[in-house]
Amino acid sequence: MNKIIFSGVQPSGNIHIGNYLGAIKQWVDLSNDFEESIYCIVDLHAITVPQDPKELRKKILEVAALYIACGIDPKKSSIFVQSDRPEHSELTWILNCNARIGELSRMTQFKDKSGKDQEGVSIGLFDYPVLMAADILLYGSTHVPVGEDQKQHVELTRDLAQRFNAKYGQTFTVPEPIIKKETARIMGLDDPTKKMSKSAASPFNYIAMNDSPDIIGQKIKRAVTDSGTDIKSGSDKPAMTNLLNIYSEMSGQSISQIESDFSGKGYGEFKEKLAEVIVAYLRPIQEKYSKLISDEEGLIEILSEGSRRIAPMAQKTLQEAKSKIGLGVKR
Ligand code: AMP
Ligand code: TRP
Repeated sequence: MNKIIFSGVQPSGNIHIGNYLGAIKQWVDLSNDFEESIYCIVDLHAITVPQDPKELRKKILEVAALYIACGIDPKKSSIFVQSDRPEHSELTWILNCNARIGELSRMTQFKDKSGKDQEGVSIGLFDYPVLMAADILLYGSTHVPVGEDQKQHVELTRDLAQRFNAKYGQTFTVPEPIIKKETARIMGLDDPTKKMSKSAASPFNYIAMNDSPDIIGQKIKRAVTDSGTDIKSGSDKPAMTNLLNIYSEMSGQSISQIESDFSGKGYGEFKEKLAEVIVAYLRPIQEKYSKLISDEEGLIEILSEGSRRIAPMAQKTLQEAKSKIGLGVKR
């Protein structure tokens, strides 16, 4: 069976090093092991909460530029915008009719995002995981690399695929999540008990992929630390564990190596070095990004080409699902 990788990021908020380490970096690392790799800019997911139309359009191109700047090669992988392919919305409807209110009500992301206002949020926000299932299932995806917060959604996708297959006959490939333990959940710099988040109230929660060296320095300086003075990771040291993880991922050094390099040294020195490591890691990505973002036509062409390339896969799966159910008259 062909190995097909599929994943996506919402064009909203500030894409941060949590998105990068948890998801995008894995895509780059994995792309060569797969026959087909498809990376989506999930604008239909973004509109489940209010978005400014001008900003949304700008963000779509920014995410495209960022994917490529991070190392996704548009010649080898298909990069496309979700709303450019109508099959996503159409398959969502079909899956909706086989999904249950009970199972969607159990999604922790929905509970987190809707907070106390469950009556007031959009139906789209509630249905978000079904749209995600449609994204994945349309392309016969075998593997879905994501951060830990999306695991439950991939499990729902598996349930929906298995349920449909059992009811109507083999139609969908049942996908596996790929979650890298060390970077599954990068925590907020201002609160290491919560994940780093695009929609965080304070910019001191995250390091955005486009933050300048000065800003990175300031944010790391202000990052919360644990009680004590040791540069050590451990379950009783959530803040240092998080910072050491970031350090390790971006320097290529193991945590124990970093711990021993900093033994007897203070938080101040560690933070200074960590900021340097992040700045140096992001610099080539940022340089590539600024070239790409200045060529809007070039980006649009890449996205159109990506959409054209994958269209037959989406159309075929959708048609198969429709005819299994007895919809329409096309056979
Ligand atoms: P989103 O920001 O919701 O569009 O997420 C895009 C990708 O980044 C998904 O695969 C998420 O699981 C992943 N992700 C988001 N936040 C984090 C985080 N703090 N740590 C690790 N992965 C994350
Ligand atoms: N829901 C994912 C997130 O916010 C983004 C996403 C949408 C996705 N469709 C997907 C991820 C399909 C993987 C596969 O992080």
